[in-house]
Amino acid sequence: MTAQLNARGDVAVVVPAAGAGLRLGPGGPKALRLLDGEPLLVHTVRRLAAAPSVRMIVIAAPPADVEAVHSLLSPVAPVTVVAGGAERQESVAAALAVVPDEVAIVLVHDAARCLTPPSVVERVAAAVRAGADAVIPVLPVVDTIKEVAADDTVLGTVDRSVLRAVQTPQGFRASVLRAAHAAAADAHTDDAGAVEKLGIPVHCVPGSDLALKITRPIDLALATHLLTLPDPDA
Ligand code: CTP
Ligand code: MG
Repeated sequence: MTAQLNARGDVAVVVPAAGAGLRLGPGGPKALRLLDGEPLLVHTVRRLAAAPSVRMIVIAAPPADVEAVHSLLSPVAPVTVVAGGAERQESVAAALAVVPDEVAIVLVHDAARCLTPPSVVERVAAAVRAGADAVIPVLPVVDTIKEVAADDTVLGTVDRSVLRAVQTPQGFRASVLRAAHAAAADAHTDDAGAVEKLGIPVHCVPGSDLALKITRPIDLALATHLLTLPDPDA
C-alpha cells in the first residue's frame, strides 16, 4: 500500500534521496546529513507535506537505510519508502513504479533541495493541472557564461538572456513521465530532459532562491542562514 497524505490532493511526489553526497565531503548519505539538527530529508518532506496538492510522497532512499528513513519520516508525514538505485534515474524509476495509476500528476523533487517552499510545489502542480505535459521551475542565470576550449582559451560568450538554471520539483502528467522513463536509454540528469527527447514541450515557471540544491559544503552554510529568515510563504 502507498501511504496517503491528503485524499483531496491530486499529486504524487517522487523524491530521489539515494545519493551519496560525495561533493558534500565525508559523512553519511546526503539526505541524512544534518541541517540545523535535522536530516535534510526531514526539511524536504515537511515542506512537501505542507503543499495542499500533495496526496502522497514516495522516497527513494539509500538501500541500506530504507527502514531508518521510514522511521525518521513517519512522525513528519505518511510516506512510502523504496530502495533507490546506483543512478538518480534508477532511483526515480523505482519510486515512480509504486505510484498508483490513478494519480494523474507526478512531481519529481530532489531531496537535496530541502528548503523548497510549498508555494513552488503548488506553482508547478498548477501548471500541469492547467494542461502542460511537463513543467520545470527555473531562475535566470546571473553569471556571465563563457564557452571554453580544452586548452582554457575562451571560444565565446553565451547569450545569458536565453539561459535558465533549472530546479525541482519538476512536474509531469504521469503518463508522460512514465513514457519518458521507459524511452530513456542513456543516463540523463533531469527528468524534463527525457521528456524533451520525446519531442514533448516543457513549460517553465518561476523557481525560488530557496530551492537551491545542497551540493557543496558552502550550500549547507547558506541553507543554515536561510533557515533564520522569515518563512517566504507565511
Ligand atoms: N540521487 C538518488 N540516487 C542516486 C543519485 C542521486 O536518489 N543514485 C538523488 C540525491 O539523493 C539527490 C538528487 O538525486 O537528492 C540530486 O543528486 P545530487 O545532488 O547529485 O546528490 P548526490 O548524488 O547525493 O551528490 P553527489 O553527486 O555529490 O554524490
Ligand atoms: Mg549526484
